[in-house]
This record gives sequence, C-alpha cells and structure tokens, in this order.
Amino acid sequence: MQAKLSVNINKIALLRNSRKGSYPDLYKYARDCEGFGAEGITVHPRPDERHIRYDDISILKGQTKNEFNIEGFPNDKFLKLVLKNKPDQCTLVPDDPTQLTSDHGWNTIRHRTFLKDVVSTLQDAGIRTALFLDPDPKMLEAAVDIGTDRIELYTGPYAYYQSVNEEKFQSEISKHALVAKLAQSAKIGVNAGHDLNLENLRIYAESLPNLLEVSIGHALTVDALYYGLQNAIQMYKRQLIIA
Ligand code: PXP
Repeated sequence: MQAKLSVNINKIALLRNSRKGSYPDLYKYARDCEGFGAEGITVHPRPDERHIRYDDISILKGQTKNEFNIEGFPNDKFLKLVLKNKPDQCTLVPDDPTQLTSDHGWNTIRHRTFLKDVVSTLQDAGIRTALFLDPDPKMLEAAVDIGTDRIELYTGPYAYYQSVNEEKFQSEISKHALVAKLAQSAKIGVNAGHDLNLENLRIYAESLPNLLEVSIGHALTVDALYYGLQNAIQMYKRQLIIA
C-alpha cells in the first residue's frame, strides 16, 4: 500500500495574498496538483486568513476532484465552514489563532470531552476525522476513546533531528513506528505531516508500513520553484513507493 500525497496549498494562497489580486490562481494550482498526480488537496484556514481565505473553501471544494482535507482548530467559525463544505476529511489541530504554524499535537486526555463532541459532530455529517497527534501512546489511547477515524502524526521533531542528532532522529522514528502500529491494532488510520521533504519522506514511509497519507506544503512548494510543480509532485510520490 502506497501512502497518498495531499498537497497543502496554503503557501500559494500566501503568495497570492501578497499582491491582493488573484495571481497565482489558487484554484488552477489545486487542479494542476491533482492533474500532476496529487491524490489530495489540504487547506488550513487560520483566523487571520493570511493564506487560505474562508471564501476560498467552497470554490476549491467545487473545483477539486480528489480527496479534500480541511485542517485547523475547531472553533465555531471553523466548524461551521467545515460542516457547510463537507470535505472528505477534517484534521483537527490544536493551534492558537496567532500561531505561525502547527507545532504540537493535541493533549487528547485534557481535551477528551471537547474532542469527542467535535469528532462525533463531524462524523454525523459524513466527514472523516483525523486528530493531529505527537507520537505518544497515551495520547493515542485517548484518541481511540474519542473515536476518531484517523490520527495525523506531527513529524516536526522527526524532520528537525535528521540533520542535527542521529540518536534523537532514530528515537523519533521508533516513537512514530510504535504509535502507528498501536493505531493499526486499534483500527485507526495513520496520516502524517509537517516538515516532510525529499530528504526525510522515504525513511518515514519505510518505517510506517500502514501510513495512509502525508500532507506536505512548505518543502514541496520550494521544490516546485526549482524543479517545476509537475516534477516536484512526481518526486514526492516516488519517495512513497516502498519496495
Ligand atoms: N499538517 C498540519 C497539521 C499542518 O498545520 C501543516 C502546515 O500547515 C502541515 C501538515 C504541512 O506542513 P509543511 O507545510 O511543513 O509541509
């Protein structure tokens, strides 16, 4: 089984917003990502709308064919948006409104009741859920109790340690592999994301045989500048082919 590639298009929205117009065309970019092989599109609307705007969502939903994933903190405005647009998947992320980017997973023990409520609301609307999680068995245990369909493992520290500390890098791989295995036993699907790139993606996919999906934005966007979007997408997809 090969993990799917969902391209996070937030950085393209950021580029568009820097000149206030509609160039580059975000919607064409999303369609082209799919045309070049991406199995999904991810958007992460944040309250200040500095990248994806709330009114982009319904247009993207209407123009994309593959899996559509909306991620973000489940405040009332976000949930209303998600329930209205019914993406295939909603990834719940514990980021505060001013955060630059996501940098930790949920404390599923502390927020168990809140997350149970949100997860069942989304599932009742036919939307698959994923909880953004650090690779911690205790957090997974509570995520199983919450009833989420999937988790998305936060790969920031994994990516960071690759070039700075081999021992910690190996330890991150072991933690991710363990939680992925436990998730599989509990029949919870495993996605992953953050700071994944052409240097670290293959090792990650090889270490987690039940990985279903990766969502990648920053590095893929930078690589597209050097190699072109079609090549970059194909290069990322090749990293996910495990012999
Ligand atoms: N997953 C989550 C929950 C995120 O917030 C982000 C960044 O928006 C990503 C994955 C993708 O991370 P990156 O842009 O580093 O590939």
